[in-house]
Amino acid sequence: MLISSALLFGCTTLAGANPLSVESPDGSIRLQFDTQDGVPTYSVVRNGKIILNPSRLGLKLKELPDLTEGFTVKSVERDAHDENWRPVWGEEAEIRDHYNEMRVNLEQKEVAPGRTVAVVFRVFDDGIGFRYEFPRQEALQDFAIMDEVTEFAFDDNHTTWSIPAEGVRFYEALFRELPLDEIGKVSTPVTIRCADGTHMALHEANLTDYAAMNVQAVPGGNTLTASLTPWQSGEKVFVTNVRVSPWRTLIIADNAGDMTLSRIMLNLNEPCAVENAEEFCVPQKYIGVWWCYHMKTATWEAGEHHGATTENVKRYMDFAARNNFGGVLVEGWNHDWATWDFSFTRPYEDFDIAELNRYGRENGVALIGHHETGGKIANYESQMHDGMKLYADNGMHYVKTGYVGDMLDGKELHSSQFGVRHYRNVIETAARYGLAIDNHEPVIPTGLQRTYPNLMTQEGVRGQEWDAWCPEGGNPPSHTVTLPFTRGLAGPMDFTPVTFRFDNPVMPQTHVNTTLAKQLALFVILYSPLQMASDEIENYMANPEPFQFVRDCPTDWEKTLFPEAEIGKYITTARKEKGGDTWYVGSATGEDARTAVINLNFLDPGATYLATIYRDGEGANYDTDPYPVVIEQKEVTSDSILSIPQGRSGGCAIKLAKI
Ligand code: NOJ
Repeated sequence: MLISSALLFGCTTLAGANPLSVESPDGSIRLQFDTQDGVPTYSVVRNGKIILNPSRLGLKLKELPDLTEGFTVKSVERDAHDENWRPVWGEEAEIRDHYNEMRVNLEQKEVAPGRTVAVVFRVFDDGIGFRYEFPRQEALQDFAIMDEVTEFAFDDNHTTWSIPAEGVRFYEALFRELPLDEIGKVSTPVTIRCADGTHMALHEANLTDYAAMNVQAVPGGNTLTASLTPWQSGEKVFVTNVRVSPWRTLIIADNAGDMTLSRIMLNLNEPCAVENAEEFCVPQKYIGVWWCYHMKTATWEAGEHHGATTENVKRYMDFAARNNFGGVLVEGWNHDWATWDFSFTRPYEDFDIAELNRYGRENGVALIGHHETGGKIANYESQMHDGMKLYADNGMHYVKTGYVGDMLDGKELHSSQFGVRHYRNVIETAARYGLAIDNHEPVIPTGLQRTYPNLMTQEGVRGQEWDAWCPEGGNPPSHTVTLPFTRGLAGPMDFTPVTFRFDNPVMPQTHVNTTLAKQLALFVILYSPLQMASDEIENYMANPEPFQFVRDCPTDWEKTLFPEAEIGKYITTARKEKGGDTWYVGSATGEDARTAVINLNFLDPGATYLATIYRDGEGANYDTDPYPVVIEQKEVTSDSILSIPQGRSGGCAIKLAKI
C-alpha cells in the first residue's frame, strides 16, 4: 500500500538559508545538511541526543576537480513514503518502508562551472540512509572516483564490533570488541553501542557497480571515514552507466534486539526484479556431501574415497527424504579438483547427474550444484552459461558458488568494483536459468536479495567449518552470539550449523565450542533461508531424538523477535513459521553459563501451546561435555515465562505448537 508519493508531497524549493533538515516520520531522528564555506556536511540527532556531529560528504576524482568543496545548494526536493511490501522469503512476511526524503541538488559554480550532483537522504524511524547521485551532464560524463571522503563523526568513543578490512580473507574473522578510535580500517557492518545503551550499525545498501565501503578510524577522534576497496590500478570506482552510489546506512535503535530487527537495508534496495522468483527461490533446509571432506573421511577429487559418487549421493538423498530436508549439496562432482582447473560441464565419471536428478525428483529432494571457481573469474565466465544450462536442463534450481583465491583472477579484491560486477553478473545469469545461489567467498551482502531473491544466502562469515580445521581450536563460544548483531545485519549467512560431533580425529586440536543443545538453537538463531545441517548423516542417525528439532524446523518466517539480546553474551530468537501457527525459539549463551528467561508473551493470547524443549542436560558445557540434552514437553500460554538453565556455551531450542 503506497499512501504517499512525490505527486502528493514532493516539492522543489530553491535553497533558502542553510542548514536544511529532514525528520523521521515519528520525529525522533533529525538529519541536518549544511554547506558552510562550500563544504557539504550532514549531522544527526535522535531524541535530542547527538548521534553524528557535522560529517563531511564528497568524493575525490581522477583528473577532474574533486566533488568536495565549492558547493552551493541549487534546489531541494522533498518526498515522503509509506508502503508495506512482501519479500519472496525472509525473517518476516511483510516489511514496512516508511521514510521522509530530502534530495539536495548541489552545484559547483566556481570549482567546476555548471557541474551538479545530488545527495539524497532518507530518514526512517530506525535510522538513516543517504547516497550520491551523479546525473550525466556536459561537465560530468564517465569518470573515476579515487576516494570517498564521507565521514561518520560520532559523538563519543563508543564500543564497537567489527572485523579488519585487510589481512582477512572473505570476511572470515572473529568480530573484535574495541573502542571506536582503535579499530583501524574495517569492513562494514560496524556495530556500535553507546554508553546509554543506544545501538547503531553502519553499513551500506544496494552495492551496485561500485566498490564495497570499508571505514577507517581517524586516530584520536570519534570519526570513521569511508575507504573504498580499490582496483589494482588504484582507482576505486569507474562511474559509467550506473550514476548513483550505494546507500550509506546507519541503523539507530534503543537496544541490540531492535537494531537487529531494522529493515532499512532491504528498504533501500529496489523491488524484486526476478520473474517467477516464488517458483524457484524456495526456502529449504539441506544436507550435503560436504562435512566428510572437512573430516577427511572422503575426498573432493575422484578416487577410492570420492565423496560425490552416485551411490553416496543417493544415500544422502534417502536420508534427506526421510527427514524432511529439501536438498542435498554435492561438492566434488566435477573435473578437476586435483588441479583446481575447473570444468563446470564435465562431471566425474562416477557421478551421474541425470540419474541423480531423476532420483531426487522421485524422492522430493533437490540436487544442489556446486561451482567452485577458485577465484578464476575469466575461466568461470567463459563457462558460466554452459554450466548453468547443464543444471537447468537437469531441472536443478540451486547452486553453491565459491571463490577460494586470495585475489580474483590473481589481481582484484573480492570487494572491489571488479568483484561486485562479477557477482552481479552471476546473480542475473543464474536468474535467467531459474537458479538460486548460495555464494561463498562473496562480497559482503547489502540487501540485494530484495531485488534478486535468487541470491538466497552467502558465506562471508567465519562459519562452522572453522571448527573443523582452525589451528587455534575452533570458533570461541562468543562467536555465534555475536554474529546476529554484526555480520548477520548484512543478510542471510550460510554458517552451516548443527554439528553433532564435537571433535575432529584428524585435527585433534580443533573443537566445536558449543553444547549440542546450542547447535540446535543456532538453526533458528543464525538466519538463512537455505539452512544447512552440516554434519555427516551418520551422526544424525545416531542421535534421532535431538535431531527431531531440526527435522521440524522450517527456514521461512512470518515474524521474528528477540526476547533477549546482548552482543557477545547471549541471544534468544523467536520466529513464527510462515503460513502456520508454530513458533520456534533458539536461545544461546556465550562463554558464561546462564539461565535464559523467555517471556512467551508473543504467543496468541488465550491459546494453549505444547512446548517441546531441547535444553542442556546435567553438566552440559562446551569444554568438557557438550552432549547431554534433555527433551521435555509442557503446556504454555502467552502468560508463561520459561526459565531454562544453559551451560557454558550452551543453549536451548523450543518448538511451540498450538494445541
Ligand atoms: C570454501 C567453502 O567455504 C567451503 O564450503 C567449500 O567446501 C570449499 N571452499 C571448497 O569449495
